[in-house]
Amino acid sequence: MINTGKRAIPPTVIVIFGASGDLTARKLVPALFNLSVDQLLPEQFSLIGYGRKSTTDEEFRSELRSSLNAHSRRQISDDIWESLSPGVSFHSGAYDDLACFTSLKKKIEEIEKCAGQIVQCLFYLSTPPSGFSPILENLGVSGLASRHQGTSAASKVIVEKPFGRDLSTAKELNQIINRRFSESQVFRIDHYLGKETVQSLLVQRFANSIFEPVWNRNYVSCVQITVAEDLGVGSRAGYYDRSGALRDMIQNHVMQLLALTTMEPPSSLDPEAIRDEKVKALQAIKPVALDETHSEVVRGVYTEGLVSGEKAVGYLEEKDVPFSSYTETYAALCLHLDNWRWKGVPFYIRSGKRLKQKVSEIVVQFTRPPAILFGKNAKQPLSPNLLTIRIQPDEGVSLSLNSKTPGLETKLQPVNLSFGYDTTFGSNTPEAYERLILDAMAGDGTLFIRGDEAEQSWGLLSPVLDSWQALEKQGLEPYSAGTWGPLAADKLLLNRGHEWITNM
Ligand code: BG6
Repeated sequence: MINTGKRAIPPTVIVIFGASGDLTARKLVPALFNLSVDQLLPEQFSLIGYGRKSTTDEEFRSELRSSLNAHSRRQISDDIWESLSPGVSFHSGAYDDLACFTSLKKKIEEIEKCAGQIVQCLFYLSTPPSGFSPILENLGVSGLASRHQGTSAASKVIVEKPFGRDLSTAKELNQIINRRFSESQVFRIDHYLGKETVQSLLVQRFANSIFEPVWNRNYVSCVQITVAEDLGVGSRAGYYDRSGALRDMIQNHVMQLLALTTMEPPSSLDPEAIRDEKVKALQAIKPVALDETHSEVVRGVYTEGLVSGEKAVGYLEEKDVPFSSYTETYAALCLHLDNWRWKGVPFYIRSGKRLKQKVSEIVVQFTRPPAILFGKNAKQPLSPNLLTIRIQPDEGVSLSLNSKTPGLETKLQPVNLSFGYDTTFGSNTPEAYERLILDAMAGDGTLFIRGDEAEQSWGLLSPVLDSWQALEKQGLEPYSAGTWGPLAADKLLLNRGHEWITNM
């Protein structure tokens, strides 16, 4: 549920597969310890790192301490560390070796015996995707997946992205998962859903009465969703080159933002009620036009340029990127929803690496006021009102209005009414992973992607990926690092009477 106070969470053992990986160090462990600072972890809590290398408990603990020092948003005091670290251990084992899962089960039963009460298991799959299938299979065969079924302490599994590479692999993964876990035990993570501002989108839409009447095709001229990064692929080219912007960012993060922006009000805050509405919104999206004359997609790749005054190399010159690569580092699409609320309103979405600035935002552009009274003789038409929901950085919401500039002449200028999270609430907001791990421990799937949602989103984008695959480099538009992407993406909007809004 969206509304959460302190919830009853059963005693928990979290088992992280891929415990030596970057995500564990940068996000998962800091999230767990910050939850402990806020006293949100259950009293009986243990963490088992599962990995292929042979590591002692002591070595693992010391790795975790260093990652906390490097990555935690708050300093973790010795008291907190000492209260949790005895419950931290490492289990060395292969993902496809049943015997290692049987011994893991024994270890968990020992913990349970010492606790003197039943303990839920939360399995966190943070391995490369090739690890998912053997781990899920062995969790099933060993009986770990079915522990305490039917109670609040039933085993749960968090599945990290990427959730498949296309529709057929996503379906296959859903089948593997659902062979061993029922849907209520499964938590497909998209860290964007854990961001404070993304959660607050539903509150803005449904806890205020001024937006709902105008949130439709009668008043909205277009909606733009931008998830831009100034960073390049860094050391992740091995992963990224097999992925690209559409798979890495659009299929999950951007489509989730789109679903939350366009969904109907749910009948309640029940997780399924919310997820049903998101699926319906995704189902309403029309297949994307790919033919050259009406194309609704643009893909690009960065070439060398200047990002914040620093020279940046092009994608093909990045370490580990093959010269023959035609992976897109930028993608923009124009989508239409075929439903009563949104028919005819273009949704422009874009995401890319090495763009001018890191920014994620949703801009709702309202219809232009008629130039009857004001703006009749002006060179420029009256500006449309813009509602900007800034996901990050400078989290907040602003609404632009036309106002009169002071003076004897009647001159108009757009001004902003704005609210910033930091200035209103202070800056120490929980990280997305804190919220998401806590929700999964409590068995609350609202902020996770349901199996049908993932398939719906892949169903829409797989044909785009297939067509790009067939075209190889043809149509892959270069853009200089440090700009807002290829010119073709500007044309995508200009041809439809709009232009990208960049609130910098
Ligand atoms: C991840 C992508 O899901 O999101 C990365 O794999 C990307 O490529 C990251 O850099 C961006 O996340 P955030 O929270 O920094 O916007």
